[in-house]
Amino acid sequence: RPAPACTLVIFGAHGDLTKRLLMPALYNLAGSGLLDPAFRIIGVDHVASTTAQWRDGLTEMMQSFTHDPNAEFHAPSINATQWKWVCDRLDYVQADFGDLAQIRALGEKIDGNAIFYLAVSSRFFAPVIEMLGRAGLVAETGGHFRRVVVEKPFGADLRSARELNRRILAVLQESQVYRIDHFLGKETVQNILAMRFGNLLFEPLWRNEFIDHVQITAAETIGVEQRGAFYEPTGALRDMIPNHLFQLFGMVAMEPPNSFSADTVRTSKEQLFEAVRPISPTDAVRGQYAAGTVEGKPVIAYRDSPGVAADSTTETYVALKLHVDNWRWAGVPFYLRTGKSLGGRRTEVVVQFKKPPMMMFRDTETHELPPNRIILNIQPAQGLTMEMGAKRPGPRMDLADVQVRFRYEDVFAQSPNVGYETLLYDCLMGDATLFQRADNIEAAWRAVDPVLQAWAGNGTGLEIYPAGATGPKGADKLLERDGREWYPLDGA
Ligand code: BG6
Repeated sequence: RPAPACTLVIFGAHGDLTKRLLMPALYNLAGSGLLDPAFRIIGVDHVASTTAQWRDGLTEMMQSFTHDPNAEFHAPSINATQWKWVCDRLDYVQADFGDLAQIRALGEKIDGNAIFYLAVSSRFFAPVIEMLGRAGLVAETGGHFRRVVVEKPFGADLRSARELNRRILAVLQESQVYRIDHFLGKETVQNILAMRFGNLLFEPLWRNEFIDHVQITAAETIGVEQRGAFYEPTGALRDMIPNHLFQLFGMVAMEPPNSFSADTVRTSKEQLFEAVRPISPTDAVRGQYAAGTVEGKPVIAYRDSPGVAADSTTETYVALKLHVDNWRWAGVPFYLRTGKSLGGRRTEVVVQFKKPPMMMFRDTETHELPPNRIILNIQPAQGLTMEMGAKRPGPRMDLADVQVRFRYEDVFAQSPNVGYETLLYDCLMGDATLFQRADNIEAAWRAVDPVLQAWAGNGTGLEIYPAGATGPKGADKLLERDGREWYPLDGA
């Protein structure tokens, strides 16, 4: 279904996000034929530039992606007609976000439906929205929609997230706000819902009766690179946990929603988040990478990175244990971990089952076989892996551990996707299912707040790990304490 005609106004037109992700996503959407011919894109930034200069810069960037193996956007070449479709709709406006007259002038260019995309530093979220309100650009009159997309980070703790929600909701209705978490744009993340609620196979087992524990991992090989100034006051916990890892957790652990509509899905998620016990600092581990080697390449220490203090106590790794106080998950810990400059890149959810109550086969003891696991491979591997026991061929009744795999690449022809296509399209269609409601964000911050408080302004317990490792030793101890261990990062 093609999206309705709309003007997309991007604040932060010269920023990294616009260039690296939004433009490739718009290019892909243009190729899919889902955009209306009257679709327009207005770029707003304080940088002096003309529409032609902006367009030429973007064109150059798009071309550069074709030979950058690390770019999120992969395409061997840029289709000239498809990119021209986007270029023909670009318009650049130089404006200061804080200048009411300039924002009013911007308003003159917009009529009908509009989406304001805040691809700007988080300190501008509230001021820009307030300015849009003062300029009268977000009033939904004449049957037209006016929506605002807010990027992350959404606040830095519970207090600031609440304050940000308060300021946004003083100007906008909740239904006009689209708080993005790009993890929800990933096919494999959306597939968790398809898998759980589109099949009968999993859901009956998806509870504490059968599941021992769940591990959620987002291991990255990249370090902080050039983002020191952003990362220093942020750290791994704020950067990844209450947003991306909580989204994975939500998809895996929420109750079946009554329907696939935005509010039902987000209410289910909310009920789950509310059941998370605020995390005790004793259930949290932090680490920071020192110099080392990742994938054969030397990596400098976090503390030597640009924009980072030489005595920084910012964590680049975090591992946490979550307790969920509800009927389904009582007694099933969820272990979350994420880190930078680790030995391997893997985002996955490992659901580990309890052991069978007894092993009746003479030649196999229960303790010899690993438990059943379902591994949701989010990236770079995409699919699902099941680990189970099967009879080893031969005269003895002996069981071996085997893996059953579903891999996206074996089944589906992959369409180009940077993850933002779905989210932009959903926003155009007015479907907020894959966006965060105010209460979801606050509940996630509430869960991590005790750890943030305990870690604020000190480095107690911060463990240094060499780049290329699997993380600090403390993370292993967190599970050993419970008689468990992490699923190996170099496994499956
Ligand atoms: C971003 C974080 O939101 O997500 C980054 O700020 C992180 O630090 C990134 O690297 C991970 O996203 P993805 O899609 O590469 O897994």
